Amino acid sequence: MPKYIPEPFRIKVVEPIELKDRKTREKVIKSAGYNTFSVKAEDIFIDLMTDSGTSAMSQNQWAAMMIGDESYAGARSFYRLKEVIDEIFGFKFFVPTHQGRAAENILTSVLLKEGDLVPSNQHFDTTEGNIYGRGGTPVNLVNGDAYILDKQVPFKGNMDIEKLKQFIEETGPEHIPFGMITITNNAGGGQPVSMQNIRETAKVYHSYNIPFFIDACRFAENAYYIQQREPGYGHRSILSIAQETFSYADGATMSAKKDGMVNIGGFLAMNDEEMFVNVRNELIMREGFPTYGGLAGRDLDALAVGFKEVLKEDYLEYRLAQTRYLGESFAELGVPVMQPIGAHAVYIDAKQFFTHIPQTELPGIALAVALYEYGGIRGCELGTVAFSHPDPVTGEMIMPELDLVRLAIPRRVYTQSHFDYMIEVMKEIIADKDKFKGYRIVKAPKLMRHFTAQYERLK
Ligand code: F0G
Repeated sequence: MPKYIPEPFRIKVVEPIELKDRKTREKVIKSAGYNTFSVKAEDIFIDLMTDSGTSAMSQNQWAAMMIGDESYAGARSFYRLKEVIDEIFGFKFFVPTHQGRAAENILTSVLLKEGDLVPSNQHFDTTEGNIYGRGGTPVNLVNGDAYILDKQVPFKGNMDIEKLKQFIEETGPEHIPFGMITITNNAGGGQPVSMQNIRETAKVYHSYNIPFFIDACRFAENAYYIQQREPGYGHRSILSIAQETFSYADGATMSAKKDGMVNIGGFLAMNDEEMFVNVRNELIMREGFPTYGGLAGRDLDALAVGFKEVLKEDYLEYRLAQTRYLGESFAELGVPVMQPIGAHAVYIDAKQFFTHIPQTELPGIALAVALYEYGGIRGCELGTVAFSHPDPVTGEMIMPELDLVRLAIPRRVYTQSHFDYMIEVMKEIIADKDKFKGYRIVKAPKLMRHFTAQYERLK
């Protein structure tokens, strides 16, 4: 396998970025309360906070925006998008939404009632939020390997099928209005799910008459993994793998800000007509008319082209190789990274990286701050601060097993030399590793606290 694949594009428009000097960076992060979410984008050199809505669009997407039809109802743009969505996803109905969580909001509003439970391999935090927000409970049933940082398995995002069956038997299917699976599993290191596992998951849900929805944000990356790793799929096109994936489901939620290659957009798709009628009513109330759903016509056109481009194998080969290059280069330096490297991000366990900083002193925050101070690089902690929760009985804080820092790679944005630069920065951090101090929270809300918490560096 080559160590890296040259970018399959050349650059026509450039966006300047600036590496501020070290003293400025130290001042900036301190006045942001050591929280990378509070740093202004203009103070960041390489921004790996998210791969969502941060893609660079192609010349064909920008050209398509010029032919956007802004008619309120029945716009040409909608029908161009519909043709592409029908071909790839193949559901009977869909509505555009402004992003993924809007689709989740409508899905939960039409299907979920208080006291219901919704299983998945692992829900993303907005999906969890939407389920909790309507009085339900999200349940994660990913296989046990997902929690072992360095375990090399091809489909580490797979649902634990036995656990799923047992869960449905114990809960009673009448309390499960729908079941999900997330491809790829973002909350668990961007790990893929195999076709066999998707098929078996569908079979289990359907044997209890539970509708099956796929969280499809990174469906093309998942399809490429299936082509590369699953026996019997090596000769299949990405399109046909995607089509097969969705043929097992009753619907999908989509944040097109990921594999749609656009800066805003999403959809909710389904086969059930009665559900569609309810969804359409909700959509009209909250998002917009069903042929634009909170987006401009030009956004729909950019997305129609993005969905075609994301299926290209040379793009996917480069995309996965780029992330793998960063992750494996870190691993060679002894950095504890989630293995195998996922498609959209490199996840580092800061607890194993800064072994001298106890988890209560937030090693993940220490690493996120170090990346910014040493290199102007912005990642985010998805570990102790993001996922600690109080024990419902004792009230004592339960901390996650891993203290992850995520470096998410925007699509088609950074080049090989940016990646080499990040590896150099990591070497400097490693050289000073023992000098880093822990942090304590000085201010934080109760929910979603990692976004706005403020910290203080310990002496
Ligand atoms: N599902 C998954 C698996 C996601 O990763 C995200 C967003 C969503 C749903 C929600 O979509 O942002 O369009 O409303 N993930 C981003 C991230 C925010 O940084 O991982 P959205």
